[in-house]
Amino acid sequence: MTRRRVAVLISGRGSNMASLIEAARDPAFPAEIVLVASNRPGAGGLDRARQAGIEAVAVDHQAFPDRAAFELALDGALRARSVDLLCLAGFMRVLTPGFVEAWAGKMLNIHPSLLPLFRGTRTHERALAEGVLVHGCTVHYVVPELDAGPIIAQAAVPVVPGDTPDSLAARVLAQEHALYPAALRMVCTGAVRLEDGRALFREGWDGDAALLNPPRRMGGA
Ligand code: GRF
Repeated sequence: MTRRRVAVLISGRGSNMASLIEAARDPAFPAEIVLVASNRPGAGGLDRARQAGIEAVAVDHQAFPDRAAFELALDGALRARSVDLLCLAGFMRVLTPGFVEAWAGKMLNIHPSLLPLFRGTRTHERALAEGVLVHGCTVHYVVPELDAGPIIAQAAVPVVPGDTPDSLAARVLAQEHALYPAALRMVCTGAVRLEDGRALFREGWDGDAALLNPPRRMGGA
């Protein structure tokens, strides 16, 4: 098995990044984390990655005249390490269509809602305001439109009486930490791939983890 070379892009504390690093410590996991990059030099996740023995670099977007120049530097750092796949994990920088197209089918994001509900920010607060009884998280392929890419995997949690945005966020985050490694495994093993703008699931794929609610398969018939 050739392990795919993965970079994790962060902007903050990096708890999802840490869950990916932890999963990839298993030599049988089909990916290795070869780089963590942050657009914010102060991101706590950078130190966390280094403590785990992973190369971590800051590509400070404020040091570049425009988005294109920042992305050129970021892309250079990724290509220099022969990165195959990108995992966005709390990466708070909108990427241009050019960058997204260059990594099409090779860039994943985790979003703290059951997409297509609650794209954007403050998802937990908005979910509570809407009175939904089920909330969760989604791993999806990245497309130019924000939080709109084809869904790879989702996990749901209940909303319970007395929930606050923080308590709900914590419940969702625990699922994120299981979901992201499972979704990355699916991509690396070919259980799912991006084709014609859709997530195409391998025929016979029966789900990687009980907690996942796998989207309907689209292969075959
Ligand atoms: C997570 O809730 C993730 O879904 C969202 O941003 C948050 C990042 O948290 N995109 P962390 O940095 O992974 O702890």
